[in-house]
Amino acid sequence: MKLTSAPPQPAAIHAAKQWLPFTPNRDFLGEPRMFVSAHGSWYKSEDGRTIFDASSGLFTTPAGHGRTEIADAVYGQILELDFTPSFLRSHPKSFEAAARVAELLPHGMDKVFFVNSGSEAVDTAMKITMAYHRARRDASRTMFVSRERSYHGVNVGGTSLAGMVSNRRTFQGMTLPVVHMRHTLLEENRFILGRPPKGGELAEDLQRMVDLYGAENIAACIVEPIAGSAGVYVPPVGYLERLREICTTHKILLIFDEVICGFGRTGQNFAAQSFGVTPDLITMAKAITNGCVPMGAVGVSDHVYETILGSAPDETIEFFHGYTWSSHPVACAASIAALDIYKNEDLFERARDLSPYFLKRLDELAAVAGVIDIRGFGMLGSFEIDPQLLGFSGYELQKRLFDRGVHLKTTGNNAILAPPFIATQDDLDYVIDVLKETLNSPSQFNPLCHPK
Ligand SMILES: Cc1ncc(COP(=O)(O)O)c(C=O)c1O
Repeated sequence: MKLTSAPPQPAAIHAAKQWLPFTPNRDFLGEPRMFVSAHGSWYKSEDGRTIFDASSGLFTTPAGHGRTEIADAVYGQILELDFTPSFLRSHPKSFEAAARVAELLPHGMDKVFFVNSGSEAVDTAMKITMAYHRARRDASRTMFVSRERSYHGVNVGGTSLAGMVSNRRTFQGMTLPVVHMRHTLLEENRFILGRPPKGGELAEDLQRMVDLYGAENIAACIVEPIAGSAGVYVPPVGYLERLREICTTHKILLIFDEVICGFGRTGQNFAAQSFGVTPDLITMAKAITNGCVPMGAVGVSDHVYETILGSAPDETIEFFHGYTWSSHPVACAASIAALDIYKNEDLFERARDLSPYFLKRLDELAAVAGVIDIRGFGMLGSFEIDPQLLGFSGYELQKRLFDRGVHLKTTGNNAILAPPFIATQDDLDYVIDVLKETLNSPSQFNPLCHPK
């Protein structure tokens, strides 16, 4: 294994034409860090080093990379039926995939609308909400309630809901009517793993919106059960329960954006089950195909579905919305194969079993002087660094970690961990050791860099 202090200069991008999303492009091109292959929980870099995937890709790949079952399903599907128009036609695997997803959803939520990404799932959920209230002849409900520091994708709906200021400030002129509750990150909850005891009362912000704007104007309240991208904000005890109560009382739909939380990340199928709170709609994507093929979906409560369909005259389209690639045959085949793996290998249960060890080891970072908070639930964890104390930022941290053999996502100065469910305790030991080493001796390369 060769370790160098200078990052690799790959031949592949010398004539760079690509504009990268959510990346400092000029910095990246000066110091490109790219993966060339992946197997199991490990990526390989261009200079042949193995790098542990501590983010499961981008929260996409809990069953690990290079799964032959999914590859075979995708290959077979392209040869058998590569495309079906999604409007006026369908194919059996789309119904099978919907049934398989519905099996995992909370009781009373039995319909699935397919899309191609988390952003599309969010915008679709907003449109379903609008259609639902219109069908109920309650059409003045057009306002959405979101939350500070939330991430709901990048389409127009998701940008309007956005609670992270950089994701919305440039686009202010094109956003929809959305008001924001306060975020749930409280000083007194620092270094608490699991559900923080304080902050449940912040759900009363929704009641204040009702009091200020009138329930008759509010369509839905949308939250990530655990705010993922901002840095893993676990809901305080009682918080989601109270949002549910307020929504029910005032006929406001409750939407859980489970694009990160869904498919076992919290130890149950969805965070809705982990926290015992059932929303009216659930948005999902990412792990729905183990990240192999783009796909997203909205899980829809029976009462919402039936209200919308029941209000339309016979032989008319009930919901004027959909995408060319909704329920794409290849995505459906990949999803069924991924869900088979999750089931056959008891991966959600494995995530539940591995979580205490993961969180215990993560908690050890509290001893590092520059670490100022640690949060986590299930197989999702985060620590926050103080760049003044450490001498480098979160952005710099993820680069150093890459060079030392660990990939993870940072948002600002929060490092987010979401290990694959197939990870072993040894893998997690490796990640925490590399993290400690990097945080404690930031200018040195880590000899622990995995020699796979
Ligand atoms: C909670 C949440 N919603 C929506 C999205 C957007 O998903 P996509 O990038 O697939 O559009 C994300 C992406 O990370 C997310 O975390």
